[in-house]
Amino acid sequence: MTNAPKILAFAGSTRKASYNKQLVKIAGAGATAAGAEVTYIDLRDFPLPLYDEDLEAAEGIPENARKLKQLMLAHQGLLIASPEYNSSVTPVLKNVIDWISRPEPGEQMLGCFVDKVATIMSASPGGLGGMRGLVHLRSILGNIKVIVLPDQISVSRAFEAFNEDGSLKDPKQQAAIEQLGSQLASVVAKLAT
Ligand SMILES: Cc1cc2nc3c(=O)[nH]c(=O)nc-3n(C[C@H](O)[C@H](O)[C@H](O)COP(=O)(O)O)c2cc1C
Repeated sequence: MTNAPKILAFAGSTRKASYNKQLVKIAGAGATAAGAEVTYIDLRDFPLPLYDEDLEAAEGIPENARKLKQLMLAHQGLLIASPEYNSSVTPVLKNVIDWISRPEPGEQMLGCFVDKVATIMSASPGGLGGMRGLVHLRSILGNIKVIVLPDQISVSRAFEAFNEDGSLKDPKQQAAIEQLGSQLASVVAKLAT
């Protein structure tokens, strides 16, 4: 057993070469360096049908949604890097949030979100780096009881921002993303005391 802060890290994109998957790994490395235990997951490994209330009534919560809920419950912090699609959250991320927000008998409402602390970030080929989507993501998470830390970073012109090894070419930007991860680890650790 360890008291290290436990952080779940994932991207709001399932794309194989996703910039946001690269970005969240940098923040995760920052959290690890600060003493956290970071679990990185790829939402591609948790495919879910498009949320449909009739489907839920007929078949219940899909197994992958249950697995994601358990992963959320096993971690105190969330690192999320997500692109924006048409200035908002991606469908894959919103779909995951919708499925795992559904309580099963005996579960607390929004139980897997309550008291979670999250840091959000984005990357995009565009000039705004996906920052408009983070406005919506912050609002959604806040409304389902996640504490979203104030600092966030959007990496613009992502097609030229990364090295082959997944690090950022700009050392200051690399350090700033690592800092997002270490800050989350530090806040989670303080809240646990
Ligand atoms: C349906 C769709 C809508 C998009 N809308 C935006 C947008 O509003 N702003 C933006 O900066 N990029 C937009 N993009 C481009 C994405 O930012 C780009 O595909 C990015 O690489 C996705 O992130 P990823 O690399 O992590 O998969 C859009 C892409 C798609 C497929």
